[in-house]
This record gives sequence, structure tokens and C-alpha cells, in this order.
Amino acid sequence: LNKLAVFASGTGSNFEAIEKAIREGQVNAEIALVVSDKPEAKVIDKAKSAGIPTFVFDPKGYSSKQVFEQEIVEALHKEKVDWIILAGYMRLVGDTLLTPYEGRIINIHPSLLPAFKGLDAVGQAFDAGVKVTGVTIHFVDKGMDTGRIIAQEAVYVKDGMSKPDLEYEIQKVEHLLYPNTIQQLINRGNQA
Ligand code: GAR
Repeated sequence: LNKLAVFASGTGSNFEAIEKAIREGQVNAEIALVVSDKPEAKVIDKAKSAGIPTFVFDPKGYSSKQVFEQEIVEALHKEKVDWIILAGYMRLVGDTLLTPYEGRIINIHPSLLPAFKGLDAVGQAFDAGVKVTGVTIHFVDKGMDTGRIIAQEAVYVKDGMSKPDLEYEIQKVEHLLYPNTIQQLINRGNQA
């Protein structure tokens, strides 16, 4: 079975794209849980509207990352989650979560890694004046945006483009590339 947990801290447009791709039969999976570290995040209402269970926590209420990640792991086990899909989860994953899911946690990042790691990668690329940037999907390891690359797609920065224009183009690519890549991983996993 292909049960996904989608982790998000914000708007959740990637969550929506994955949820839609599943509904339309393009991805053979089920989103068993949406996990958010931001109690006000828009993604939570989107998950609820789609009838998907949520695990929402505020890191400030915990003594350490280990303690909240242990709770997340319990929620994931309860839902029998196979894959963790980070979709704008703006937090480094620690050992407590990484160890039991190593090779089964993937992230999307809005640049052609290893360029422009970290926060506001689109802004970093825009300010650097690069003519080509893009989207990367990679396995998650201990580092920040350092794990093995699974898929990349280029986005060209055309003359006269504003930063919001570039953000729009990047997100358009993300919303196709993430569902497609998830389906490919599922196919590979089911062959093994
Ligand atoms: C996405 O563009 C994703 O690539 C980025 O956050 C956005 C979340 O948008 N992630 C990172 O920057 C991770 N370092 P969404 O909430 O609308 O899916």
C-alpha cells in the first residue's frame, strides 16, 4: 500500500496538487495524514476540506525536537504511513523522524540544488540574476537540502520577469513534478 503523510508549514499548494492527482487517478496512493508545525497554516483547512486527518503541533510547546518528532512518529505508525512527503515543511528533520523513515522521506525545493539551499530559494536565484533555475526533488538526510537528488526540472528566467512571476512559474512546475515523481517512486517500490 502507498500511504503518504504530507508535511507542510504554509499554503499547501503542493499538498493540493498531490491530493488532486490522487483523486484523478494519476497517483496510486492515499494521503493518510497531513502534519503541520504551524497551527495557523492554510494547509490545515485544505486537508480538513479534503477529509484528511491532520496532526498539528506547535514546537514551542515541546522541550525538544526529539519529543515532538516522537509524537509524529507515533501518529505515522498509527496510520501505517509508507512515505513522508515534505511540501514546504520549513524545518530540519531530526534523527527521531529520519531513522525510521530513511529512504522514505522526500522533499521539494524551489531551486536546482545544490544551488540556493535554504530559505527563499526563489528570491536567492532572482537576486543572483541567474537565467535558469528550477525545482529539485530529493531524498531527505540530516543536512539542509543535501540528500540524493531524484528529479529536477529547469525554469528559465526570462527578461523582464518579476520575482512573483518567477515564483508562479516555479510553482507550476512543482505541481506537476511532485505528483509525477511520487508515482515513479511508488512504482519502483512496488517492483522491489
Ligand atoms: C514550495 O515552493 C516548496 O518548494 C518550498 O516551499 C513552498 C511551499 O509552497 N519549500 C522550500 O523552500 C523548502 N526549503 P506550498 O505550501 O504552497 O506547497
